[in-house]
Amino acid sequence: MSSFVSLFFFFFFFAPISSIAKASVPRSATFKYVITGEFGPYVVEYGGNYRMILQIFNSPFQLGYYNTTPNAFTLALRMGLLRSESRLRWVWEFNRGKPVRENATFALGTNGNLVLAEADGSIVWQSNSAKKGVVGFDLLPNGNMVLYDSKGQALRVVGGINKLVTRKSEKKNVNGPNSLALEPKGLSVYYNSPGPPLIYFTSSQWGIQQGSIEYVMLKSDPETYKITLEYHVANSSSAPGRLLLEIQIGKTSANYERCNKFGVCDDNQCVACPSEEGELLGWSKECEARKVNSCDVKDFHYYKLEGVDHFMTKYNSGNGVMKVDECGKKCSGDCKCLGYFYHRETSKCWIAYNLMTLSKVPNSTHLGYIKVPNKK
Ligand SMILES: *[C@@H]1O[C@H](CO)[C@@H](O)[C@H](O)[C@H]1NC(C)=O
Ligand SMILES: *[C@@H]1O[C@H](CO)[C@@H](O)[C@H](O)[C@H]1NC(C)=O
Ligand SMILES: *[C@@H]1O[C@H](CO)[C@@H](O)[C@H](O)[C@H]1NC(C)=O
Repeated sequence: MSSFVSLFFFFFFFAPISSIAKASVPRSATFKYVITGEFGPYVVEYGGNYRMILQIFNSPFQLGYYNTTPNAFTLALRMGLLRSESRLRWVWEFNRGKPVRENATFALGTNGNLVLAEADGSIVWQSNSAKKGVVGFDLLPNGNMVLYDSKGQALRVVGGINKLVTRKSEKKNVNGPNSLALEPKGLSVYYNSPGPPLIYFTSSQWGIQQGSIEYVMLKSDPETYKITLEYHVANSSSAPGRLLLEIQIGKTSANYERCNKFGVCDDNQCVACPSEEGELLGWSKECEARKVNSCDVKDFHYYKLEGVDHFMTKYNSGNGVMKVDECGKKCSGDCKCLGYFYHRETSKCWIAYNLMTLSKVPNSTHLGYIKVPNKK
């Protein structure tokens, strides 16, 4: 399987939108599109059938819906023009993982609520903006969809793009484990772990001195783990055209999935499966920490590993300054915590909700404590 997950990221600048002052959505600005009819003739992403809603278009964006299995439609924003067929992409979806059936409707009523509903009326997605002063819906040339008020101000950005979440696979249209966000501190890739999202990668090379970003595209290949980030800077004399940044996390220790559920990675190889005595034994694919099913501190203990780092210690600042015992208490007081990591030299503490790949480091002041049940 060599499916690509493509993501787009847009920067948006609000253009003033003119409109007439009115309390509710004028009839002429209301709409109701029914998901039905002939499919479009071109090849689109994921190899599905599709149909575009011609009225909601602002080059190069257009709203439409597609399905890859019969009668299961995803309403989505597409980017690209037909003359660039191979680069048409679904860039934002209203109902990922919650497909609608034929005759579903996408509508803006006079009350200002934007709704995607099944034919029987059951709501699948809504903007929750009834009676909030919405007078219209607009798709802007930057790909943002907005609900605006009588002053032309965007009240709500639907199709909101300040964080992009990967799709599980080409076939499976549900959220994948990673997301990409542009934040003041930089461009970051997150791992949406069972706990709070963890920063998995931050680009320090990111920085635009001049001009504005027209688009950013992230591609990841699940076979090789190669991640390519491509961005285009407009009106820049220093960086015209396209810049390519290749993040080669690949099969390296920096890849949190490198050693499956649990393992120690050294020099990009999975070298050890930690034992409950704190020794590093030979690694196997089945290596896994025993599950703790009780929240009671009488039922579990920790074993200690020296000279290891969890992937989150690199980009996530951790807690502290605190003592190692306090760090342990944080983990013991949190049922979902699977272990904790501690750097003696900085007295920083990290609580782990997943273990996965640990990196072997020469510095023995980097400690890992793995939670295990007392009962054998
Ligand atoms: C959709 O609605 C049309 C018109 O009411 C109807 O003929 C058709 O059978 C409906 N399709 C489905 C799958 O319910
Ligand atoms: C780039 O510069 C041109 C001319 O100065 C201007 O018309 C255009 O709007 C600029 N584009 C962007 C994206 O800033
Ligand atoms: C461990 O790392 C810290 C800071 O990174 C350093 O001060 C300390 O000397 C290192 N210790 C060893 C044993 O390398």
